[in-house]
Amino acid sequence: MGSGIAEVSARAGSSVIVHEIDADAADAARARVEASLDRAVDKGKLEQADRDSILGRMEFSIDLADQADRQFVIEAATEDEDLKKSIFADLDAVVGSDTILASNTSSIPITRIAAATSMPERVVGLHFFNPVPVMNLVELITTVMTSPETESTARAYAGSLGKTVIQARDRAGFIVNMLLVPYLIGAIRMYEAGVPTREDIDAGMRLGANHPMGPLELADFVGLDTMKHIADVLFEEYKDPFYASPPLLTRMVEAGLLGRKTGQGFYEYDRR
Ligand code: CAA
Repeated sequence: MGSGIAEVSARAGSSVIVHEIDADAADAARARVEASLDRAVDKGKLEQADRDSILGRMEFSIDLADQADRQFVIEAATEDEDLKKSIFADLDAVVGSDTILASNTSSIPITRIAAATSMPERVVGLHFFNPVPVMNLVELITTVMTSPETESTARAYAGSLGKTVIQARDRAGFIVNMLLVPYLIGAIRMYEAGVPTREDIDAGMRLGANHPMGPLELADFVGLDTMKHIADVLFEEYKDPFYASPPLLTRMVEAGLLGRKTGQGFYEYDRR
């Protein structure tokens, strides 16, 4: 999702420095952005010259110190609370006193991440949806510590990307995943119970409710590790079995079947 957020930011005119953990990841991020922009050029939605100037506004770096002059930093690491806290603590030591730090976490309460910094008033949640260039929503999550200036700057930033902003409370799952994840978990439980096929469950929601993807396809698209992580965070927060990861989801994650990104989840994918 990080490359998608970087792409839409550069498209909107910002200078962007994408931070990655190593050179291979940085090359892969650049390749993802180039492929996305090239697809837009091929479809006649973007001029070649605009594609080149968007890429000219983007740098790919493996040194967090390169973020020092940034006004706005959006973190989009794996859904691991300790990892996110350590990234925010590191950023805290690098960025200037006016920089706003945002997390793209899909479920972890922002307060816990903000508390890892010395400037919790400048920390917000900005939750994007996948694929970022296509999905028009951003959830804005403020905490009891977020300053009004941080909130209005973050709202304006997301708006400048052409996204509709909705405001969520700092509770696990925010708005969308609080509704979406139990639905997806319900589909996995139905599949696990063994009556309908995966195709019938998905066709049911595609054709019967006009969803662009069925729930098992969507779970594979989101990533089954991410799905399980969100379910675990919701269960931990609300202590309601309704949110618990179904055994089948847990077993698939343990087996490394994570959906599209590994080539196998509820369906099989060609990873070329
Ligand atoms: N980057 C940029 N553009 C993309 C893209 C990508 N990764 N993937 C698709 N597109 C564009 C295509 O270029 C195409 O554009 P045009 O119509 O202008 O030509 C359009 O999206 C449709 O794409 P396709 O024709 O290739 O495929 P499709 O019609 O099957 O749509 C889809 C693909 C947009 C992914 C659609 O299936 C969809 O909307 N699925 C549901 C996605 C969803 O629910 N996302 C939210 C997941 S939850 C989440 O992200 C948050 C979380 O915390 C878990």
